[in-house]
Amino acid sequence: MSGASAHWVASLGNALTGSVRVPGDKSVSHRAVMLGAIAEGTTRIRGFLEGEDTRATARVLCRLGVRIDAPGDGERLVQGVGLNGLRGTEAALDCGNAGTGMRLLAGLLAAQSFDSTLIGDESLSKRPMRRVIDPLAAMGARIESEPGGLPPLRIFGGARLRGVETATPVASAQVKSALLLAGLYAEGETVVREPHPTRDYTERMLAAFGYPIEFTPGVARLRGGHRLTAIDIDVPADLSSAAFFIVAATLVPGSVLRIEAVGMNPRRTGLLEALRAMGADIREENRHEQGGEPVADLVVRHAPLHGIDVPVDIVPDMIDEFPALFVAAACAKGRTIVRGAAELRVKESDRIATMATGLRALGIGVEETPDGAVIEGGRLGGGVVESHGDHRIAMSFAVAAQLTDGNVRINDVANVATSFPGFVALAREAGMNLAD
Ligand code: S3P
Repeated sequence: MSGASAHWVASLGNALTGSVRVPGDKSVSHRAVMLGAIAEGTTRIRGFLEGEDTRATARVLCRLGVRIDAPGDGERLVQGVGLNGLRGTEAALDCGNAGTGMRLLAGLLAAQSFDSTLIGDESLSKRPMRRVIDPLAAMGARIESEPGGLPPLRIFGGARLRGVETATPVASAQVKSALLLAGLYAEGETVVREPHPTRDYTERMLAAFGYPIEFTPGVARLRGGHRLTAIDIDVPADLSSAAFFIVAATLVPGSVLRIEAVGMNPRRTGLLEALRAMGADIREENRHEQGGEPVADLVVRHAPLHGIDVPVDIVPDMIDEFPALFVAAACAKGRTIVRGAAELRVKESDRIATMATGLRALGIGVEETPDGAVIEGGRLGGGVVESHGDHRIAMSFAVAAQLTDGNVRINDVANVATSFPGFVALAREAGMNLAD
């Protein structure tokens, strides 16, 4: 089933067993094609996420004159055009559903000699872009948006950018990355300071491409004008996609599930910390490095959970995992409190509101707060939930349904393909009861 009418029906599942491998990391895949495009030489990517978000970014780069071949599933060969080799196009550049794509491309395009326009789907067209427009403007960029700082973004070429020091008000890897990409072209030094350290893939990958950059948690600095040299990139499996299987195996009695070679960048593993504090049994085996990133197999055994007060300082390290965490909290004994997570309101949907409404429809007590929620663990029943076109909400309710006696209908699930193509087949293979 396709389009906004696509839905799933899910209900009480079997124990999750065996071994699964989830798709490649979305953040790493976006950056790999972007940096490959402006590098010199051919960048070979393995494990590229074949999702709509990352394919949209690759398509935009092709429109800008970059040749990208896909010799096999998850493989890309990017023929880099060098820092100054991108070519302008009259056509609007469609980022689809991807906030990462639009915000990072805004940084890259703000520095070009040509004009460009970035557009997105209905959800992306409602997401705040002022957070990148304002600091890029402080570097000398000229970007127009719709009222309220919303897409489309019209980016005027030919601006001479100057490196500046920016203290970002929100902890956002997308904002930091947009500024660093613009900084590659700026005169002088670009410094980004964050209120809390966020994922550092842009910094690590720039260094891997041979670009001089200094970074410590919370601060990154680089000077414009150096070059990137093509590399081979092995993309680890996405912890944010593994999250649904981690929570499902924790909740469904009898489960013992291995999730292979998951990226364990410390800025991404907040969910594991929160779940362990709730009583989860998640072991890390076969730890190794893949393309400079820590990777491990996760072995998850069913365990009863209890509610916790989620520590505010781990919120940025699990920012994409709150929908899954809300489901764990709904099945835990007692109360779970989430705060300091106002950013959830400006994701692919308002994730506090969509999760609260959906969990209530399944009989769980949830009180919304401006920056979080209070969730009373209980017994989930059947019902109808709206995912509002948000991939992670849809997958989270598919997990919730594994604990119910009745049927759960999950509406508007087509966007799951943005980050997790093949979710339904893999979920079924592991033991979940889910029909599309
Ligand atoms: C991402 C950063 C985070 C995250 C998003 C991916 C990235 O967004 O939620 O899914 O790849 O840089 P913010 O920068 O808005 O926190």
